Order: sequence, then C-alpha cells, then structure tokens
Amino acid sequence: MQDKRFSIRTYGCQMNVHDSEKVVTLLEDAGLSAAASESEADLLVINTCSIRDKAEHQLYSDLGKLREWKAEKPGRIVGVGGCVAQQVGDRLLSRFGHLDFVFGTHHLRRVPAMLDGALAGRRAAWVGEDESQERFDLPARRPALATGPRRRAFVTVMEGCDMFCSFCIVPSTRGREISRAATEIDTEVRQLADQGILEIMLLGQTVNAYGRHDVRRGRAAAAGTMPFAELLGQLDAIPGIERIRYTSPHPLFYDAALIRAHGELEHLCPNVHLPVQSGSNRILEQMRRRYTRERYFEILGALRAARPDVAITSDLIVGFPGETEGDFEQTLDLVRVAGLVDSFSFKYSPRPGTGAAGMGAEVPAEVAQDRLERLQAQQRDQTLAYHQSRVGQEALVLIEGPSRRGGHQVTGRDLHHRVVNLDLCSSLEPPGAAEPGTLLPARVVGATPHSLLAAPLDPALLPGAEDPDFPRSRLKSSKRRADETESVDCAGGLAEDVLRVL
Ligand code: SAH
Ligand code: SF4
Ligand code: F3S
Repeated sequence: MQDKRFSIRTYGCQMNVHDSEKVVTLLEDAGLSAAASESEADLLVINTCSIRDKAEHQLYSDLGKLREWKAEKPGRIVGVGGCVAQQVGDRLLSRFGHLDFVFGTHHLRRVPAMLDGALAGRRAAWVGEDESQERFDLPARRPALATGPRRRAFVTVMEGCDMFCSFCIVPSTRGREISRAATEIDTEVRQLADQGILEIMLLGQTVNAYGRHDVRRGRAAAAGTMPFAELLGQLDAIPGIERIRYTSPHPLFYDAALIRAHGELEHLCPNVHLPVQSGSNRILEQMRRRYTRERYFEILGALRAARPDVAITSDLIVGFPGETEGDFEQTLDLVRVAGLVDSFSFKYSPRPGTGAAGMGAEVPAEVAQDRLERLQAQQRDQTLAYHQSRVGQEALVLIEGPSRRGGHQVTGRDLHHRVVNLDLCSSLEPPGAAEPGTLLPARVVGATPHSLLAAPLDPALLPGAEDPDFPRSRLKSSKRRADETESVDCAGGLAEDVLRVL
C-alpha cells in the first residue's frame, strides 16, 4: 500500500478527533501516507458524530456527494467510522452501495485489515462491543503527529458511558465504561513529555469517573486504576508536562480529593468544563442527570475555594421535552449565578432509542430557537464581562499558530483555556519567540466576546526570566499556594457522593 494516500474527515467531540489521530497512525504504519487534499486521496475515512440529528445527517449528505468522488478515479475506497457507524452498523453498507467498510468506535484497530479487504473487493462492517483492554492497545504515535506544531496532546483515560442521560445517544454509540490502566496512561504521558509535549488533555465521556465503573456495579475498582485525583497527582509529577486539563467531567463524580487537587497540583489548569445541561431541577431529573442545581453550585463553590481563579464553562440544552418558560428562566439564572465564563448551548434533538425520545411534550421549534438565542445573548455578555475583567492581567500563552484575524497576530490559549490573540508588531526578541509551541508571557490589553487580545511581554524583562525553569516558575507564581487551600473545608458531603447518589 506504499503508493496509497488517505484523507480523514472528522466530526464530533475531542474523542473523535483523537480516534482519527489513532487511525492516522494505524494507516501510516500500514504504509499509507496522508494526502495533501481529498482530491489526491485513494482512501477517504469519515469519522462520524451522532449527538444530534443534524450531525447524523451530515454523514448521509457527505456519502451522497462521495459517489462522484469515487467515480472520478477507479480503486478509490470509502470507510465510515465513529458514532453513526456504531449506531447504524451494516445497514450503512446496504443503503450506500459505494461504501466499502464500516468500523464502530471499538474497532479502530481493524481499519488496515478492512482496507486490505476492500481493495480485494470485500465489503465489511465491524461494530460489536469490545470490552477488552486490547481496545487501548494501539501503536504509539510518532513524534511528529503527537507534537504537531502545538505541543498539546489528547490522552485517553477512559471510554464509553454508563450514565444513560435520557437525551443522550453516547451510551449506545460508545458502549460501556472502560478505564485504561494507570501505568499505561503514565507511560504514554512520559513518552509525550519526551517528545516535547507541554500540555495534555485527558479524555473520557465521564472522565472523573475513571476506574469507578465497577465500584458503581458493587464490585472492586477496575484493575490497575486509581481514584482520578490520584491519577492527576501522578501525572502532575511527570517532568516536562506544564499543563494538565481534563474533559468531560460529570458533576456526580466530584469528590473532596478532586476538589483539593485543583488547589494543590502545580500543573492542573484553572479551568473546568463542567456540563450542567439545565438549571431546572425538574428538568434535570427528567434528564436523569442525578444532581440538582444546588449540588452544582456546591461543587463550583468548593472548586473556587480551592482555586479562586478557576474559569468554569459548561454545556446546556434548551427545549428538552416539557421545558416551560419557568424552567428555561432557571437555566438563565443558573448561568448567571454560576458565573459561567462560556458555554456551548444546543437545541434538544431527539435521538433514537433514548429515554427522552418517547416522552412527547415537545417544545415547538420556534420556542426552542428563541430560548437558544436568549441564552446565547446572555452568555455572550457574560463572556465579554469575564474577558474585560482580565484586561491588565498577565497571561501565559501557549502559541498555536497564526491568528485567523491575519496581520501580525498569532493565536494561542492561556492557562484558563481562553483564546488569546497576540499582536506581534513589536517584533519579539529573540527571533522565533512566538513560534507555535512557545509558552509566551503576555499582558491582556483588550477583550471581545470570543477572545482576549494581548501584547507579548518582553520575556527578558520578566521576574524569574533568569531561572532556567522559567515557564514553570511563572505558573507557580500565578497560583495560590497549596497551604492556603488546606484550610478550606470543601469535604462536606462530597467524599462519599458517588456511593451515596447511586
Ligand atoms: N459526557 C458529557 C457530554 C458529552 S455530549 C456530559 O456528560 O456532559 C456533549 C454535549 O452535547 C452534552 O453536554 C449536551 O449538552 C449535548 N447533547 C447531548 N445529547 C444531545 C441531544 N440529544 N440534543 C441536544 N444536545 C445534546
Ligand atoms: Fe451522554 Fe450523559 Fe454520558 Fe454525558 S454522561 S455522555 S450526557 S449519557
Ligand atoms: Fe459525537 Fe460520538 Fe462524540 S456522538 S459528541 S462523536 S461521542
């Protein structure tokens, strides 16, 4: 397959983005190379998302158009993976005659073999559930792919979801929760650090339930795992890793140790994306989220006591079946009281086989649209106010590359995961100081609802610049000292919550 080139289209969440990275490694190991564009590719893989109706339909529209792409050059192959593949399975093959293979979310490893088969004229679909740890047994990524220009990497911690929120299709597209052994995670992060990675994003649909799925079933914790806070502590000590983030946590799995970790761990970033979905307790119950708005506020209070500058973001759904104007106002109120720095908000979309799909009591489309717009307008104001509050402060920016705004601007993320655009008119010394992957100290000089604007500080003038460990020392100084957080009692009711609520 030396002469074959591939291209991958990825939809959906970070798990899908990371799965596509894994498929790239598998294909490159099989001798293929990445095509510069789809028009030059021999193999096109679509990694699909099914979270809302629109996402699923994207696949059908893509596949329709790909008939022409396939006809342009004999021997071209089309494969579909991801959440729609898992959900619809081999029915995709019967519906689309030009589709060659389908692989579910547990079967990435089979892609090279399925490609071989397709080249020999055999169409196939692999979509069953694979509960073995072998799912994680994928070839190590090559430095170029892991490092990229950005020096950030995703790391899988656990997969699947056992929560069965009534609106959500993920438990059926990703299967049962399964956690990776801590030693495997540790080894991978050390390899990434050796390759120059500065920032890791730990991934899982309920990432802070790491290792606990068996506890919930009344058995011992999964072999080789440890409480999530301990895992964070272990990764925090790996030399070279400057920033640790995780997504998505579930409110149910915040315990006292995880809260404490936010005050104590040097490299755990001060941002938490904590999906809440609704501000109405009645709707939260219908959604089967297993917490109340009061509990959500309690977690945020404890997080802020441990780490006062933590930036909280969230996911919200409007128009869930039966949502009244009163329920929706509770959501607006929660967004305000919680001080959400940003949020992703969606109109409820019924998904096949989920608990809510048969509830009836649909909210009219125009009402849901109106609520979405009101919610997003309020969030825009709040995000802008937060960004304005940062003006004048210093920010340490991990540079990603040129800004879409063009000019002399580069873009990156600060510790709080906010997008920062930097104007480099002042031309930095030493040359190359703003290359992608640089940690650049800057001062926030402006704010928009989407990003912070900042000017680079001259690195040489910063206190601590003479320290060979310079970026690390900047991180330390911007945090509260751990002993300040020791006195905060955030344990009330938190430690046992997992067992209590379930
Ligand atoms: N595991 C995460 C969510 C992953 S899905 C959690 O528990 O919060 C990402 C987001 O998509 C969800 O937070 C939710 O806001 C949204 N979403 C999921 N199903 C949806 C549906 N049927 N309609 C609209 N939005 C949905
Ligand atoms: Fe979906 Fe709920 Fe699982 Fe999140 S926790 S993936 S919303 S079922
Ligand atoms: Fe979509 Fe599957 Fe992620 S449904 S949001 S790609 S887990």
